[in-house]
Amino acid sequence: MMKGALSDVTKAIGNTPIVKLNKVGAHLAPHVELYAKLEYMNPGGSVKDRIGCYMLEKAEREGRIKPGGTIIEATSGNTGMGLAITAAVKGYKCIFVMADKQSEEKRIALRSVGAQVVICPTKVEPEDPRSYYSVANRLAEETPNSLYMRQYWNPDNPEAHFVHTGPEIWEQTGGELDAIVVAAGTGGTLVGSSRYLKSKNPAIKVVGVDPVGSIYYDLFHTGKWPKPHSYYVEGFGEDFMPSTMDLKAMDDCVQVNDKESFTMARRLIRDEGLLCGGSSGSAVAGALKFAERIARERKELAAAGHPVGEPFKVLVIICDSSSRYLSKFLNDEWLKDAGLIDRGDTSGVVEDILQKHRDEVISASPDDALGSVIDRMKKHGISQLPVVEPRRLVGLVSEVQVLNALVKGEATMKSPVGPLATLDEAAVVERDTALATLSQHFARGKVAVVVDRSGEGGHDLSVVSLLTKIDLIEHMLK
Ligand SMILES: Cc1ncc(COP(=O)(O)O)c(C=O)c1O
Repeated sequence: MMKGALSDVTKAIGNTPIVKLNKVGAHLAPHVELYAKLEYMNPGGSVKDRIGCYMLEKAEREGRIKPGGTIIEATSGNTGMGLAITAAVKGYKCIFVMADKQSEEKRIALRSVGAQVVICPTKVEPEDPRSYYSVANRLAEETPNSLYMRQYWNPDNPEAHFVHTGPEIWEQTGGELDAIVVAAGTGGTLVGSSRYLKSKNPAIKVVGVDPVGSIYYDLFHTGKWPKPHSYYVEGFGEDFMPSTMDLKAMDDCVQVNDKESFTMARRLIRDEGLLCGGSSGSAVAGALKFAERIARERKELAAAGHPVGEPFKVLVIICDSSSRYLSKFLNDEWLKDAGLIDRGDTSGVVEDILQKHRDEVISASPDDALGSVIDRMKKHGISQLPVVEPRRLVGLVSEVQVLNALVKGEATMKSPVGPLATLDEAAVVERDTALATLSQHFARGKVAVVVDRSGEGGHDLSVVSLLTKIDLIEHMLK
């Protein structure tokens, strides 16, 4: 055996890294920090490798599956892959039943590991004989020497997370976390991790994220069953209550829609380099909704003179990989067909425009002479610029203002520009400001000054860019 090698690929499951999110949620500093646990770094590409291996090994130990047997599972794809890699190592056959909304990439990937894949319609009730739960049941009855894993009812699913994921998070963070945020499907990840982490520190908040169309959000907040409907984001949310889910394991439940989910997933990929799937976008979008509340509360406390202490640390589970969705939310045409983006879309954030606007911002100091400011405007073909001091925006100054002051004799070419700068026409925005908000500023005739905040209470500003209506129009037309 080679030194340093693992005996097979299942031993590479777990110990996934935790990384800080530096751009998404930057506006919450210094009150809240967001972290991501990269479950797509598992060998099968998702958090479900953990339960695939755990459920199968436990079934083996308890004699519920015999050598050469067949594993059957109803899966959105990831549990299938988790089971399939363990089955490949151990020599079992696999039959997976999937709903037709799951991506083609997932089907191809499962077939590539030798699994038989059966596709069922999404838009039928769970009790319908064509539903993927019913078909999996039937196949399990008809297939000799088979084991239906039943992740939705199998207590080994949350147990896997109680035994592995929870302790792993506790050890990696040294217990220094205040909340975890999890997109909940079977609830296995949420319930197992929650039970373990709360056994170590009951103050840790556990937040479930639920897609619009699923039942958990309403059940958690009102106790009433909503009428579920279908949605595009894959792998989580349910239209029935699995026995693996325990709503009491959550302290809060946040709802996100398809558009928020896909927009955030694409942003995580582009801005943070996290090659994640759609449900990870949901989880982070949900985490932001939760974290913004915490940041607001802490800001108010700080403003009232109360000490707020260390930043509140939120860990988000990044469930799976972007490679499973190349033909879906990573494809603009697919998003358009799904009605999730259109021309003129303003669902993004200011950072989306900055991507194409990387030029260094041309600015002036308050002491710069008007003559040199005019030269700078001419040289760069601009009609206004920000006047800045270290860590402070003094205001904007425009060609017209300078001209007026010169014509009226209120200033000469040698006068400092500082007194002419005003904030009247400036809207101070950040990278996270929604494009819809930006558009409202422009409608009021403002120019947007994009700033990064730092220092105590985010009071230190550095100007990143100046945006005008035309920048937004160009972005929307792309
Ligand atoms: C992409 C994705 N996100 C989230 C989840 C939810 O995980 P759990 O079933 O543990 O609640 C799943 C489960 O299949 C998934 O595939």
